[in-house]
Amino acid sequence: MGIVSELSHQEYTTGFNIQELGSVQPARPSTTTSTSNMNPLFLLYKMIEHKLFPPADTKTSFAGKTVLVTGANTGLGFEAAVKFAKLGVSSLVLAVRTHKKGEQAKREILSQSGRTDASFIHIVLFDMLSYPSVQSLAKQASLLPSLDIAVVNAGIFATKHETSPYGYEKDIQVNTLSTVLLSLLLIPKLKASKTSTFTPTLEIVSSGTHKIMRLSEEDQASSRPLSQISSPSHKWSPNFQYSASKLFLMCALPHIAKQGEGKDGRPEVVVTSCCPGFTKSGYHSW
Ligand SMILES: NC(=O)c1ccc[n+]([C@@H]2O[C@H](COP(=O)([O-])OP(=O)(O)OC[C@H]3O[C@@H](n4cnc5c(N)ncnc54)[C@H](OP(=O)(O)O)[C@@H]3O)[C@@H](O)[C@H]2O)c1
Repeated sequence: MGIVSELSHQEYTTGFNIQELGSVQPARPSTTTSTSNMNPLFLLYKMIEHKLFPPADTKTSFAGKTVLVTGANTGLGFEAAVKFAKLGVSSLVLAVRTHKKGEQAKREILSQSGRTDASFIHIVLFDMLSYPSVQSLAKQASLLPSLDIAVVNAGIFATKHETSPYGYEKDIQVNTLSTVLLSLLLIPKLKASKTSTFTPTLEIVSSGTHKIMRLSEEDQASSRPLSQISSPSHKWSPNFQYSASKLFLMCALPHIAKQGEGKDGRPEVVVTSCCPGFTKSGYHSW
């Protein structure tokens, strides 16, 4: 299977690749057979279900904790940031694309959480379309006194075929490659922040669409599936590309989790992924 192999041989910048961060073995993707669950009736059903039976609210205190949220200026990342603020987080790092968006989010988070101690919010700029920028974010995170929780949330749902500076289609670049890179780079700081009473968490926001993604035999057999699917000549639709980018991300997840283990094989970082479900956000702004 070429997915993890291509991921692991990514030349992120000068000579840097995932392989150097540890052993990365090829994994089989969890391809399944149906795309029918993308139909509007199913999505409507899920929305009603979630409205009627919302997840239980959490009361956990985040006092004393430092939390980083990427894509924190809008949508799910913003809502997560508000929630952490309401739950008393001591230091909240908003990783966003522009200073203006960060400042606006900061004002809104303070207003919605009712907190007046504005200095607990820090804004860091980054762009997932640039490896040096992703590395710079990780570097800045490494300089924090501690990093207890990282929510790697920023993502896109491209509505037209566009290519990143590295030649990959943008969903693949942002949702897979840069998300994997950032996750791997954050692990050492998270590990170093473990205490006897708290194990840090890396939460990667994925999507359940990876489960209904079906790669063709040809794509699965490719030694460079990310490049193949990125090609303008490959079959393209927003749903296909997005779901493929999340499937590739899930293929990398066990390898990211492996990096979170200590020498004895026990987790020093809880590496987890979630799907927020179909949610009205920047993705679905109708
Ligand atoms: N909404 C859903 O139904 C749904 C379902 C399943 C999974 N998800 C996942 O949830 C996560 C958040 O999505 P959302 O629904 O909240 O979407 P959203 O409202 O569009 O928010 C996406 C966030 O990602 C940021 N972002 C996009 N491209 C970036 C880049 N190149 N560099 C840095 N930041 C970038 C955006 O920044 P800008 O504001 O600057 O564009 C924004 O802050 C994504 O990973 C998505 O795949 C969403």
